[in-house]
Amino acid sequence: MRRFVRWTSLISLCTNPEGAFYASWALNISIDLRQRSNKGEIIVSHAENKSGTRRDFLYVATAATGAVAAGAAIWPLVNQMNPSADVLAVASVEVDVTDLEIGTQLTVKWRGKPVFIRRRTAREIAAGRAVKLADLVDPIDYVWEDPNHTQPKPALDENRTMDKEGEWLVMIGVCTHLGCVPIGNESGDFGGWFCPCHGSHYDTAGRIRKGPAPRNLDIPMAVWLNKTTIKLG
Ligand code: FES
Repeated sequence: MRRFVRWTSLISLCTNPEGAFYASWALNISIDLRQRSNKGEIIVSHAENKSGTRRDFLYVATAATGAVAAGAAIWPLVNQMNPSADVLAVASVEVDVTDLEIGTQLTVKWRGKPVFIRRRTAREIAAGRAVKLADLVDPIDYVWEDPNHTQPKPALDENRTMDKEGEWLVMIGVCTHLGCVPIGNESGDFGGWFCPCHGSHYDTAGRIRKGPAPRNLDIPMAVWLNKTTIKLG
């Protein structure tokens, strides 16, 4: 009867993910200890028996049961440190861009920061694509500046846009100097964005061209969910 209760408890533990994790952990410990015991390593105090006995097994089983119980007790404490559902919801935002006309910009808040979604004109696209890397202050976009890539990429206009044609540009609207929000809508000396705090000028692809800002405007993680919806995060 006792054995039946023990097995049913173990099965019920394994039916939820956290329980399965701890059961697997305990089982690994059990197997490891058992193997060490069979190799003749001393894992408990009765060193006179080197071949692994019923008593060894009882020690191992007791240790494994204790590990499972300890894990199950700790899990609620660990689990409460995970982000709550509302935090996870803000971590990712879906933006409907159906009504965004060419030559206009939408600013949305994502993870506490403004994000610019601009639908560029043909003139802006042409201006952005005409710029040579040698003319850029910050010619490389690193992965942490543009997590849509898996490796650093030249800050070419075509590498910074959401689509091949270059109409859709999505950037974090925070100046890389000291964090002001730049003014958009073809502002500044390069027809892109201008930060009035200390005079940083960004071009039509959001690349720093003049002023104290050291880097191009960062690109957020962004994908198209369908033809009219962009998902941030
Ligand atoms: S914060 Fe933008 S130029 Fe200083």
